[in-house]
Amino acid sequence: MDLGFGGEIADLYHRYRRGYPSGLIGACVDAFSLKSDDLVIDLGCGTGQLATPIAPHVRAVIGVDPEPDMLSRARSAAQDQGVTNVAWMVGSDSDLPLLRSLLAEQSVGAVTIGQALHWMDHEALFAAVGPLLRPGGGVMVVANGIPLWLQDSDWSRALREWLSDWFGTRPANSCGTDNATQQRYRQSLTANGFEVSKVELDYADELDFDHLLGGIYSALPVDRLPSPKERPQLAAELREVLRPYRPYIEQVPVRALLGTKVA
Ligand SMILES: C[S@@+](CC[C@H](N)C(=O)[O-])C[C@H]1O[C@@H](n2cnc3c(N)ncnc32)[C@H](O)[C@@H]1O
Repeated sequence: MDLGFGGEIADLYHRYRRGYPSGLIGACVDAFSLKSDDLVIDLGCGTGQLATPIAPHVRAVIGVDPEPDMLSRARSAAQDQGVTNVAWMVGSDSDLPLLRSLLAEQSVGAVTIGQALHWMDHEALFAAVGPLLRPGGGVMVVANGIPLWLQDSDWSRALREWLSDWFGTRPANSCGTDNATQQRYRQSLTANGFEVSKVELDYADELDFDHLLGGIYSALPVDRLPSPKERPQLAAELREVLRPYRPYIEQVPVRALLGTKVA
């Protein structure tokens, strides 16, 4: 099934989506005592925002994603950063049992999922992941901030209105970052025998208009992207709508659930 992450979206994602604070990577390494002989699987790795900074802490990372264009962008971005110990693999959450048999006796220090669990069957995933993990290893589920159209700010409210006019429907998708969804993930981890802790890292950052627009485009399915011909007009329109609300300060609450496998 085409989820719309291919083509130009991979490039937009790489250019305009935020990476993760180093404190989050440190929290993952500490929580699961990751060492230089560990393996990590990053599910829904996209362009490698999580897989690539974890890689220097472990022996190797397997970045798994169903979208080849995301993987191809991830591979070149990692190479540009001199990171060579990530294997980029086409696959999905439902391939976890296959990964388990591929890895045979080799257990895994962590399975990480950055801003992607809402695309997966989390109940089946949490039920299947336990046997893949070594004792003390675990699962990290991360929500990377709040979508640009759901921020509590005047510029974001104006953006919501503009997007509502553009799409004919109010943008409401929280992409799994809302409290109710986080709570559901937490309960499911606990029900599957994980000891769960939470890491909260908050920061704010100013967006320039190009990053704001690029961030919006990167969140569209590729078949909803405006054509290159339409873009200058759309950009000019949105720039005028948002101008009174500068500066565009984005609040970025990063929330991670860390489920440790208890022996
Ligand atoms: C919003 S991006 C997140 C990328 C990256 N992990 C990050 O933290 O920015 C979601 C990714 O999940 C992938 N994805 C969608 N369905 C998936 C599935 N069932 N299993 C694994 N990955 C999936 C998409 O192709 C996309 O690359």
